[in-house]
Amino acid sequence: MNVVGIESSCDECSVALVADGKRIQAHQVATQIDFHRPYSGVVPEIASRKHTEWILPVYRQALAESGLTGADIDAVAVTNRPGLIGSLVVGVSFAKALAFGLDRPLIGVDHVLAHLYAPQLETELRYPFLGLLLSGGHTIVCRMDSILDMQILGTTIDDACGEAFDKVAKFFGWGYPGGAVIDRMAAAGDERAFSFPDASLHKGEHRYDVSYSGLKTAVVNQLERFRNPGYPSTPQNIAASFQKAAIDMVVRRLLLAVADSGIRRVVVGGGVAANSYLRRSLCSARDLEVVFPSPLLCADNAAMIAGLGYHLLRRGDRDGLDLDVAARVSGFRRVYP
Ligand code: KG4
Ligand code: ZN
Repeated sequence: MNVVGIESSCDECSVALVADGKRIQAHQVATQIDFHRPYSGVVPEIASRKHTEWILPVYRQALAESGLTGADIDAVAVTNRPGLIGSLVVGVSFAKALAFGLDRPLIGVDHVLAHLYAPQLETELRYPFLGLLLSGGHTIVCRMDSILDMQILGTTIDDACGEAFDKVAKFFGWGYPGGAVIDRMAAAGDERAFSFPDASLHKGEHRYDVSYSGLKTAVVNQLERFRNPGYPSTPQNIAASFQKAAIDMVVRRLLLAVADSGIRRVVVGGGVAANSYLRRSLCSARDLEVVFPSPLLCADNAAMIAGLGYHLLRRGDRDGLDLDVAARVSGFRRVYP
């Protein structure tokens, strides 16, 4: 079954063709980073306008790459939640038109569940596993018991992990997106220069949750308070110490979940999965089987949407042309009934 996947939930405009939920026939990802850079963050109005301009050419490019024609497409899968409403609407409207025009079934897909499906596109992963999804919009520690059964164990109570990187870089004027810049600067710095605090959340209720607002305030407003004697306040030292604090915070929660559940297989996803300190820490953790999908499949992409969409369609799930979008998804247990 050839499924076309459409992803437009944030600032990536992506279309993919995937056969039987597994074999990627074409994968186009058009990133809008250059258009959001002047604002040091994603501007929702710009994002939806760019999706409107790009979605048709990106679809045509994907089709050309696959060597298929519209008639070869068996179904249309589209991200309809969670994400920026205006951006989601563009992808969903396009998907509806395509499904209607081709007279093929339509299925709406949960973007977060799709991120945790992504590694299945390049490897055979057994369940259960723990998922760590870190990007500009998500900070999730979860347990996956099957493709369609996710239990969110922890999340952020304020900023997302990647967002914290972006905001710190924006404050110091280091560039956008902040994550990659900080990662590069940190390589020349000393992470012992500052001892930034962990989040102080009520541990009983928030065992696996994180909070980045305190860390951000410490870095931006109270730098000197956390500086260790003998270390200069260089941008590289600030970057290295912040990166360590931001990543350690979430890795600590993940390792708690590993200890509590006894599940030692961990899948990492989202743009922050590129972080070199995160990779070093997880790969040096004892007895952990860590899977990092390739960078294209870690970031927002349509292949994961087509892949997960295939499994929903095979079960007989269908959406109508009244398919709606949602900015957030409620509930910590996301299991398709
Ligand atoms: O998944 P993604 O590409 O898309 C959105 O969230 O929209 O993630 C982008 C996020 C940004 O916040 C960026 O700063 C962060 O991932 N990021 C990184 C690194 N590369 C990208 N954060 C830390 N270290 C990196 N090397
Ligand atoms: Zn995402």
